[in-house]
Amino acid sequence: MARAVRGYRCRECGWQTVAYVGRCGECQAWNSLEQFADGTRASVGPLAKRPVTAVPAATLSLADVPDEPGRRFVTEIPELDRVLGGGVVPGSLVLVGGDPGIGKSTLMLQAAARMAAKGLVVGYVCGEESPRQVRMRASRLGIAGDGISLIPETSLDSALAAAEGLGVSALIIDSIQSVYVDGLESRSGGPAQLSEAGARLVGWAKGNEIATIVTGHVTKGGEIAGPRLLEHLVDAVLYFESGEGGSLRVLRAVKNRFGATDEVGVFEMTGEGLRSVENPSAAFLEAHDPEASGCAVTALIEGSRPLAIEVQALAVPSPLAAPRRIASGLEVSRLHLLLAVLARRGGIVAGNLDVVATVSGGMRLRDPSADLAILVALVSAVRDQPLDRGTAFLGEVALSGSIRPVQQSQRRLLELGRLGFGRCLAPASTSPVEGIELIPVRSVKEALRMALAGGRG
Ligand code: TYD
Ligand code: MG
Repeated sequence: MARAVRGYRCRECGWQTVAYVGRCGECQAWNSLEQFADGTRASVGPLAKRPVTAVPAATLSLADVPDEPGRRFVTEIPELDRVLGGGVVPGSLVLVGGDPGIGKSTLMLQAAARMAAKGLVVGYVCGEESPRQVRMRASRLGIAGDGISLIPETSLDSALAAAEGLGVSALIIDSIQSVYVDGLESRSGGPAQLSEAGARLVGWAKGNEIATIVTGHVTKGGEIAGPRLLEHLVDAVLYFESGEGGSLRVLRAVKNRFGATDEVGVFEMTGEGLRSVENPSAAFLEAHDPEASGCAVTALIEGSRPLAIEVQALAVPSPLAAPRRIASGLEVSRLHLLLAVLARRGGIVAGNLDVVATVSGGMRLRDPSADLAILVALVSAVRDQPLDRGTAFLGEVALSGSIRPVQQSQRRLLELGRLGFGRCLAPASTSPVEGIELIPVRSVKEALRMALAGGRG
């Protein structure tokens, strides 16, 4: 049964409400509300309870939304643009995370300078450092600073107001932990502050069409009060990582609404800032000693490109009752699993040895295609017998000891061939690629025999 909706309407401006109030919510006039019963918007049930003041949201047909890639600000730092998916999108919020000292501020200042050189007005909120410190870094990087406005402010709202006043197209906030939102009790960088700052920034960036990048320190040990809290809010999350003590830096997109995830950019930290590495595979394989045991090369697919990396393993007699297993760049559980497969399927037991496994240049192995390389590196380390340096390894290792095929093997083989590898141990079903000899292996036993014989059977 249709029933008239009753409510109150402002005699001055027509504002409507379901409950009587003394002052109009729209024109602020006092005592201007009159009761009405309006049959035209009648309905029953829950709809009748909807406040008559709710304004219907605008709708549009999906077909009418223009299908355009959208604008991007290209930073002209090739490896950064690659990870961003071709530049930074106006109105988006990007988080760049990483350990303190890894080079976030350096990268941000370099990106700011490149964008400013293209005529964009760039704001740089230096909540963490004084303008003097930023100036010193800029001088080291050879950046004059035209077009970059520093905003030395830790109140987020004041900083954003300043950025609006400057009419910026791109804003960098270094770092998210150093700014605070007024009116919240918790300390800067705390969970409540981070969530609120993130939510405000998302709305602000979108509303003003400003490309906004925030940096954040990732606390080792996965402390919850870190920038990981922001991951679900922001449009893209890039993490900066490095190998132990090396100068190579890997920037990885773990989330990107405007590009591929798992895309990596490779940089080298030099005396004059970060330099994009043009041939990352060659950089990852640099400087290896052909006589060293425990080293095996494989090719990964990272985002849109293949990358060759080296797995290094070391095994030494352990003084401990429970020998150590140390992994960097791969999960320690993967190391345990492959040692178990090696013992059961290959007959090689590392029970009384400390075993360490690492991956070159700060790369992380996520994909099981590197299993075979890890396995042969372990065998080579346990036996202290070097592998043939012209041979690479591809294949996933099953618990049963069989070697499983890997995806995109052609692209991986081409990359290995380009780097001068003449042979590759690979699953039996792999299709050949010109320039690299395939040595098909079906099982762990067969792979170990071929690997230790220098790939020549
Ligand atoms: P920084 O960008 O301040 O790191 P983050 O913001 O992630 O904490 O980088 C700090 C390190 O980088 C510091 O150890 C010095 C080094 N560095 C260089 O090697 N070359 C350079 O040109 C610059 C600016 C820094
Ligand atoms: Mg910094």
